[in-house]
Amino acid sequence: MSGRLWCVVPAAGRGTRVGGDIPKQYLPLGGKPLILHTLERLAAHPQVAGLMVVLGARDEHWPGAGELAGKPLLTCVGGAERCDSVLAGLRALPAAVTDAAFVLVHDAARPCVRTADIARLIELGIPAGGGLLGAPLRDTLKRAGDDGRSHDTEPRDHRWRAFTPQMFRRGELSAALLAASLAGVTVSDEAMAMERAGFAPLLVEGAEDNIKVTTAADFALAEFLLPRTQ
Ligand code: CTP
Ligand code: MG
Repeated sequence: MSGRLWCVVPAAGRGTRVGGDIPKQYLPLGGKPLILHTLERLAAHPQVAGLMVVLGARDEHWPGAGELAGKPLLTCVGGAERCDSVLAGLRALPAAVTDAAFVLVHDAARPCVRTADIARLIELGIPAGGGLLGAPLRDTLKRAGDDGRSHDTEPRDHRWRAFTPQMFRRGELSAALLAASLAGVTVSDEAMAMERAGFAPLLVEGAEDNIKVTTAADFALAEFLLPRTQ
């Protein structure tokens, strides 16, 4: 029922928590730039129609490919925050992607996303009007004080961690991100923008090994996970 979806891939960050001169998405993971693993996994998915990669304004590392696995691979320039980059990517999508069409948004820094989880998000998320991959919180959640001590224990029930991909209609998500931006709110994911706009995105449970490579130590973990996730 779904047809094929375009995917917006925010890749305009600087990777400050990894450090160094080269943004993390271009650092090698098993001999290949991190971002290439992510893009190859997305492009290989039968339900992905094309990719819009959002790059930093002064990106010197993008190899300049125009297609991947026979699918169009377009680029545009992002903004200061992740939400600015996603909005830029949505705006740059081809006109053939209608406002009503569902679009996937997936972090360049999540190379281990599973094909089956993308398919489940599409299958369950479309009839629900949009949704995101995530997982219920498993650990006990503490509220820390400035003193570095635990002062309270938060309830864990109904708490989820949010992953990507997140999937919403192009028009509704663009409007929600614009509204947040105009209100001066930096949303940390697409679902937060949609919640602000009155939607209740469907939480679709996905594998917890869909990690966001965030620190230098995460590269070894991602390299271990890559051949084991698919
Ligand atoms: N991203 C983006 N535009 C920004 C900031 C982030 O497109 N202005 C992208 C990153 O490239 C990454 C994804 O959003 O693929 C998730 O962001 P994050 O993991 O925070 O990456 P960085 O912002 O690059 O890392 P850091 O926060 O450590 O600087
Ligand atoms: Mg960041």
